[in-house]
Amino acid sequence: DKAQQDALKKAAGIEAAKIVENDMTVGLGTGSTVRFLVDELGRRVQEEGLHFTGVTTSRRTQEQAEGYGIRIVNIDEVDHIDVTIDGADEVDKNFNGIKGGGAALLWEKIVAINSNRIVWIVDQSKVVDVIGAFPLPVEVIPFGVGHVIKKFEAKGYRPTLRMDTDGKPVRTDENDLVVDLHLERIEHPQDLATDLITTVGVVEHGLFLNMVDTVIVGDPNGPCVMTN
Ligand code: A5P
Repeated sequence: DKAQQDALKKAAGIEAAKIVENDMTVGLGTGSTVRFLVDELGRRVQEEGLHFTGVTTSRRTQEQAEGYGIRIVNIDEVDHIDVTIDGADEVDKNFNGIKGGGAALLWEKIVAINSNRIVWIVDQSKVVDVIGAFPLPVEVIPFGVGHVIKKFEAKGYRPTLRMDTDGKPVRTDENDLVVDLHLERIEHPQDLATDLITTVGVVEHGLFLNMVDTVIVGDPNGPCVMTN
């Protein structure tokens, strides 16, 4: 149930917070698991005097972190990021995964590719054999989105435009739209990634391939740290 899942997310977040040391530059992801990470980092800042610089992947995370007095800078103010800790929606045994369930995939990917090390924190339910049961988020520019959706339909990608609870299209931090692809099984993620990124109007997609170094899985027996 949700309380149990939250406990696993929290345990993974607390474990990942141990990675952060004084004077590091740390990429902070987005989502309900990262929320627990930032809570723990905030506690360490306030109780242990930990000092580090954060680069955030969404306005939501920035607000939470600054609420704890964590120093947040723009990504262009740092020359590198030591480690980025983020959540994920699915991850397979090769550490390839899907992100963007929270619509933050574009900034998340930009922060990730500029990081020396990438750590994902997930609960055990997100570890899968084949990714794709989770709908793959694709960030698309609003102009001409209907045509992008038609092209995806023709390819059998089963696209849906993501709507919020008020029935309006979801907008990303860059004011783009999110199209979710209901693929069920992604057998050839690299081919799909190439097809998506070469579709005009697509800004980015939620496939994160060959990027992650460490996955911390919240498990009832305690968080399990797996390194590639
Ligand atoms: C945000 O766009 C996503 O990539 C999140 O990192 C992902 O959805 C994980 O979120 P939860 O920790 O809330 O499951």
